[in-house]
Amino acid sequence: MTDPLARKVVACVIGTRPEAIKMAPVVLRLRQFDGLRVRLISTGQHRELLDQALADFDLTLDRDLGLMRPGQTLAELPARALTSLDEAFAAESPDLVLAQGDTTTVLAAALASFYRRVPFGHVEAGLRTGQPDRPFPEEKNRVLAGHLASVHFAPTPRSRLNLLREGISNASIHVTGNTAIDALRLTADQPCRLPVRLQTDRMILVTAHRRESFGEPMVEICRAIIDLVDRDPQLSVVFPVHPNPSVRSVVGSLLQGRPRIQLIEPVGYREFVGLMRGSFLILTDSGGVQEEGPALGKPVLVLRDETERPEAVEAGTVQLVGPHRSAIVESVESLAREPDRYRQFAQVANPYGDGWAAERIARVILGRFGLEIADDPAGFSPIWPRA
Ligand code: UD1
Ligand code: UDP
Repeated sequence: MTDPLARKVVACVIGTRPEAIKMAPVVLRLRQFDGLRVRLISTGQHRELLDQALADFDLTLDRDLGLMRPGQTLAELPARALTSLDEAFAAESPDLVLAQGDTTTVLAAALASFYRRVPFGHVEAGLRTGQPDRPFPEEKNRVLAGHLASVHFAPTPRSRLNLLREGISNASIHVTGNTAIDALRLTADQPCRLPVRLQTDRMILVTAHRRESFGEPMVEICRAIIDLVDRDPQLSVVFPVHPNPSVRSVVGSLLQGRPRIQLIEPVGYREFVGLMRGSFLILTDSGGVQEEGPALGKPVLVLRDETERPEAVEAGTVQLVGPHRSAIVESVESLAREPDRYRQFAQVANPYGDGWAAERIARVILGRFGLEIADDPAGFSPIWPRA
């Protein structure tokens, strides 16, 4: 028989860089409650990127399933992850499994929890482009994980509505804000050393890694970067290049060795925050960076034709330019030319949260277990967004 006084076990499953960064505030907060035993399990979907991200939050793994293989296919990873997570859950006996976002790791964690009849809590639930294969395969991963979840932590009112439209019950959805903003808050007081010396005052920070951009779209992005620095000597580029070989081959062959373009290895989270802060604007196809840019007051031009994060586009601080050479060049140049427009872009309020999403998530979890909630931490308001 289970001991009702035993601590409840929460297994937090991560696999890639963004999951480590966005789950860190939740793990750190949950670990402060005596009534919980919090286990951090990694599929190791990413090796170097994950280790880098965990180090910045002083987090160590309780279990590392070590599943990354160079050049892994989309099917190989979930096949291995499902069996390995099942074994991990058998050993840990979680009362709740948590995972964040839309990766293969999240889908495997949701399915493995379902098979073991363990409730699954989905952090960053309900984001949708509405197009089944964009982003590929993440849109479907997120939908499927959502339909396996028993509790949904939606970052914004819109993501809540998306879930309601799919028949998810209102009572299981909690609007919390995005934990990406919590991660930024946690690093706010920490020194952010820049990993490179900036070559001009107007540095454009670039990241690109989406599968839909492999091949020709990535070539277009690189050609736009070349046009930009060739046409304006005040512009320079810092581009931390994702380790995926499909990204490295194109980016390396087109951009390596060009003046005012610095290709660098992926950097730790704190250093990346430093680069964002030091940038003139950000060109990216990353999901997380679309949330961080607005929170830091930086214009973000998204190298995709659609986004599951339309809130900042509507607010006017993020613009979709797609992976299209001329649209990228025109948009950057118009921001560089028009200081008023640039200022407007940068001054819009960030729609993704107030930095207390992890606190709200922790309270929901404690409530499910019937555990006491201590006083409010300084600065925390239980209601978000404010009416
Ligand atoms: C994955 C996620 C994507 C997320 C991205 C964050 C899926 C389907 N996609 O995409 O949603 O936005 O992570 O970065 O889950 N590699 C390394 N070392 C690393 C990481 C990756 O060498 O630390 C290389 C390996 O060759 C690996 C390849 O990158 O096979 C691709 O990694 P994978 O996790 O399959 O996909 P991502 O494109 O990174
Ligand atoms: N990031 C980082 N180092 C880098 C590039 C990005 O720490 O060199 C961080 C960034 O701040 C954000 C997250 O990684 O929090 C985004 O990860 P990624 O773009 O790989 O995934 P996505 O958000 O697109 O799923």
